[in-house]
Amino acid sequence: MDTLSSIDAVRGWRGASEVGFVPTMGALHEGHASLIRRSVTDNPRTLVSIFVNPAQFAPGEDLAKYPRTIQQDLQLCADCGADAVFTPDKQMMYPPGFATWVDVEGLTDRLCGATRPGHFRGVTTVVAKLFHITGATRAYFGQKDAQQVIVLRRMVDDLNLPIELITCPIIREPDGLAMSSRNRYLSALERERATGISKALRAVETLFQKGTREVSILRASLVTGLSNHVDKLDYAEVLDAGNLSDIQRVDRPSLAAVAAFIGSTRLIDNVVLAP
Ligand code: PAJ
Repeated sequence: MDTLSSIDAVRGWRGASEVGFVPTMGALHEGHASLIRRSVTDNPRTLVSIFVNPAQFAPGEDLAKYPRTIQQDLQLCADCGADAVFTPDKQMMYPPGFATWVDVEGLTDRLCGATRPGHFRGVTTVVAKLFHITGATRAYFGQKDAQQVIVLRRMVDDLNLPIELITCPIIREPDGLAMSSRNRYLSALERERATGISKALRAVETLFQKGTREVSILRASLVTGLSNHVDKLDYAEVLDAGNLSDIQRVDRPSLAAVAAFIGSTRLIDNVVLAP
């Protein structure tokens, strides 16, 4: 496996074959591994990027303490069959004078966009840059960050980017907790309570499967289910899964989505309700 630490090195490595691309911020776990393995299956060559993108962290968020585990990450990439890992630094991605941003409007006002101002502008800008740098054929994203995929699809369509996005399922711990680099912030007790998030989402899924279609009822169940476990609810919503608009009834694919704090750790999770 090659480690590429400059943009020229990536362009040199790129060649003519199709490339599958998995952008990450490192602190890799089985969720990331599932994307890398899928790309390795689909493409002759797979490139992973590891870059903790400062532009997508708001002031006061966890940029400084975001876990950095580069040696283990490189090992995981190699074990999953990645062909190369791109490890840019901040200077390379945002040189002095950097002034161009990619901003998807509307979709980024909802959910995480409402409480993390500037977050998606940082994501779309860095991902657009990474797509240009890598010239990848396909890029792999997790349904864990459901809004991120919706926003990035909009960006790819609107800017006619020649890349195919593939969404992969959420990988969970045996007790249901969605895997996340941020799970390692949790104390043992918080880790226990964090299972309340996926449990509340599963309860909503069960209600839905038994025939409940009223969003007000589904949402109330979600909020009640979460209330005993989380310290602060950021949002708990049931929205149109295609465009994140408000709905009254689940009469189309819908997204039940949660962001909540366990202690000072903000976790997100979701399930798709498909009638
Ligand atoms: P990061 O949080 O490292 O996630 C990288 C990719 O792994 C994302 O597509 C995310 O949805 C996926 N992922 C994370 N946990 C997962 C899980 N439990 N199951 C399945 N997939 C999972 O998302 C980002 O980084 C950044 O915003 C990035 C796109 C790299 C831009 O900086």
